[in-house]
Amino acid sequence: MSAADASLERALQIARAYIAGRADRPVWPAASLDSLREAFGGPLPAAPIDAADVIEALARAAEPGLVTTTGPRYFGFVTGGALPATVAAEWLTAVWDQPASLYVISPAAAVVEEIAGAWLLELLGLPPSSSVGFVTGCHMANFTALAAARHEMLRRAEWDVEADGLNGSPSLRVIVGDEVHVSVVGALRMLGFGSRRLERVAADGQGRMRPEALASALEANATPAIVCAQAGNVNSGAFDPLDKIAAIAKRHGAWLHVDGAFGLWAAASPSLARHTRGVELADSWATDAHKWLNVPYDSGIVFVANPAAHRAAMSLSAAYLIRRGEEAREPMDWTPESSRRARGFAVYAAIRSLGRSGVADMIERCCRLARRFAERLAAEPGIAILNDVVLNQVLVRLGPAAPDRGADARTQAMIRAVQEERVCWAGGTRWHDMDAMRISVSNWSTTEEDVDRSAESIVRAARQP
Ligand SMILES: Cc1ncc(COP(=O)(O)O)c(C=O)c1O
Repeated sequence: MSAADASLERALQIARAYIAGRADRPVWPAASLDSLREAFGGPLPAAPIDAADVIEALARAAEPGLVTTTGPRYFGFVTGGALPATVAAEWLTAVWDQPASLYVISPAAAVVEEIAGAWLLELLGLPPSSSVGFVTGCHMANFTALAAARHEMLRRAEWDVEADGLNGSPSLRVIVGDEVHVSVVGALRMLGFGSRRLERVAADGQGRMRPEALASALEANATPAIVCAQAGNVNSGAFDPLDKIAAIAKRHGAWLHVDGAFGLWAAASPSLARHTRGVELADSWATDAHKWLNVPYDSGIVFVANPAAHRAAMSLSAAYLIRRGEEAREPMDWTPESSRRARGFAVYAAIRSLGRSGVADMIERCCRLARRFAERLAAEPGIAILNDVVLNQVLVRLGPAAPDRGADARTQAMIRAVQEERVCWAGGTRWHDMDAMRISVSNWSTTEEDVDRSAESIVRAARQP
């Protein structure tokens, strides 16, 4: 057997065992920081080592430090599992090793993005003529969309930001909701819009931007504006009222961007699409495939209703970057990177394996399971659910649903105890001056039994003295 075959065989065996055992593994690993450093450590290898031996040693060192994020009882952050077809597609992506930059480097990688992009627009109910870019995650999707926004709003003021930069440019305002995700702030920072200069408008008790506050902000000042709304608050799962916000933004000639890292997927479900009503009226959208589409990391997607603005903000040219002409889509025209992994293959595999109905079922199932979690936990005296469970997010607090130091400490102790028991994993957050446990149900393989086992673990932690 060749070295390449032997290492792939070994990787396949290890992968099969991991996947077969992931529902039963403790969700959080037992290894200490020191033991992991020791396992991976040692002097710089002086000479070549057989590929299969490298894989063996790598897996042995990594295994005790792996968090079972693809398992059915991982509820941390907003983390999708990896659908079977997407894992296999990712393997082939590595084997094929095609950069998705230019058609001439990989016609297959270029065309799969074109097809998957069109499917995504249809699934999410966005304008079919929008342009699409495949990026690392929603953070970079927000960046790309807001670069297009910056281009277009300054172009309308007769300023070429790509050529002349921001020094001396006409003013732009950037308006965000008070509950804006930090990655939007990070993206804006990279685009030259300092975080202190952002204008925040009030949000309601669930974290939804108040449309009347946006209207007053826009009426108070005629400077051209970029408005950043949100579909799916990272804590509560709540949606900004996009239809109202879009009407207000339109009235004032503002660019409307929607950060929909996971919430945008509600649009793919007939029973949840009411949450995203009006989303198609925005100018740009950012989402993740590695969250709710259950594609392996990393995979984010940006959509822009005005392809010319998107392309102008991203596209580069050089004599050696050979283009096919207007006939083919060039992947690097739509992303901040030049060379990058061909992420379109796994996204294509996800959509192809689930189909429209499978995507809707997965999204709806996660939301049903989140409600089940909330019902189980709310039945325990002393536990409060802090949010309206409208999507897949549940905020859990031990003690009164009001700011209180003692309840903060008890909630933190509950989170620690759950994490130490390792039946499931959920992290902590701060919500309206209260500590809370954050549960996000985003994995295709989670069942009712997983939720019940996890809720029992949380109740045990809540009852500890
Ligand atoms: C609303 C929202 N926007 C953006 C992001 C950033 O996504 P990523 O970490 O995939 O870049 C997240 C991540 O949780 C999110 O919830």
